[in-house]
Amino acid sequence: MPTALITGPTAGIGYSFAAALAAEGFDLALVSRDKARLEQVAEELASRHHVTCTVLPADLADADATLAVEERLRDQPVDVLVNNAGFGLWRPFEHNDIEAEQRGLDVLVRAVLRLTHAALPAMLRRGSGDIVNVSSVAGFLPRGTYGAHKAWVTSFSTWAHLHYQPAGVRVLALCPGFVRTEFHSRMGAGVDGIPEWMWLNADAVVAEALSDLRAGKAVSVPSARYKALVTATRLAPRGLVEKLARRRG
Ligand SMILES: NC(=O)c1ccc[n+]([C@@H]2O[C@H](COP(=O)([O-])OP(=O)(O)OC[C@H]3O[C@@H](n4cnc5c(N)ncnc54)[C@H](OP(=O)(O)O)[C@@H]3O)[C@@H](O)[C@H]2O)c1
Repeated sequence: MPTALITGPTAGIGYSFAAALAAEGFDLALVSRDKARLEQVAEELASRHHVTCTVLPADLADADATLAVEERLRDQPVDVLVNNAGFGLWRPFEHNDIEAEQRGLDVLVRAVLRLTHAALPAMLRRGSGDIVNVSSVAGFLPRGTYGAHKAWVTSFSTWAHLHYQPAGVRVLALCPGFVRTEFHSRMGAGVDGIPEWMWLNADAVVAEALSDLRAGKAVSVPSARYKALVTATRLAPRGLVEKLARRRG
């Protein structure tokens, strides 16, 4: 059985990755903080798809907890790693507690770096493996520390894709726009001002990401409308980009 380790599989995009890979016959190792919810997802997917699901409760903002996941990746190598866990902070940088900002950096960047580093050697020895790093279209704009962390994820993944693809390891940066998940409610953000057409469905995002990964792409921007938006952002006058960057939400 091929195996996949997914961070943040209890909700949203991570849940969609877990469901899609279980449906393909992958055994799963599931990592997030809420043990009861992890067990619920594991039981549900195991019984629906007849795969083995292991739960690894861990707060990826915590160095020791992350180390345990790294050790698991070294001891029991996986075929697919999905670095998806993440959260946003609603208040402006200067008003956020610095420890909350540090947790954001640790989950969105540090954990991605360390889990990728732990998973890679076995993939390279085997000459095959897939790593999906969930980034965001926010990484294409100057959008606070969240945008900065996601810019790192996209840049790192694009480099890793170029560097490791010849050795059989595919790395993809998944850069979605707004996706209907628990993300915005968890950060206490209102979403009333976001027009309906800007919302994506998590299952559709994951289906496009897996298709792009297997087509050998480095970056996946799901949906035609967000592909157009990203292109427009690259071509847009600096003044407009700066206006977008100053907007919250
Ligand atoms: N939704 C969007 O509009 C959107 C757009 C672009 C990119 N993204 C990115 O997509 C990824 C998934 O977000 P989502 O929208 O699916 O959010 P979500 O529905 O809120 O799910 C977040 C998942 O991450 C886990 N998680 C959060 N903090 C964690 C921590 N410290 N340690 C371990 N696990 C943690 C949560 O589980 P526990 O609470 O059990 O830990 C949950 O399973 C994130 O990287 C996010 O930045 C989201």
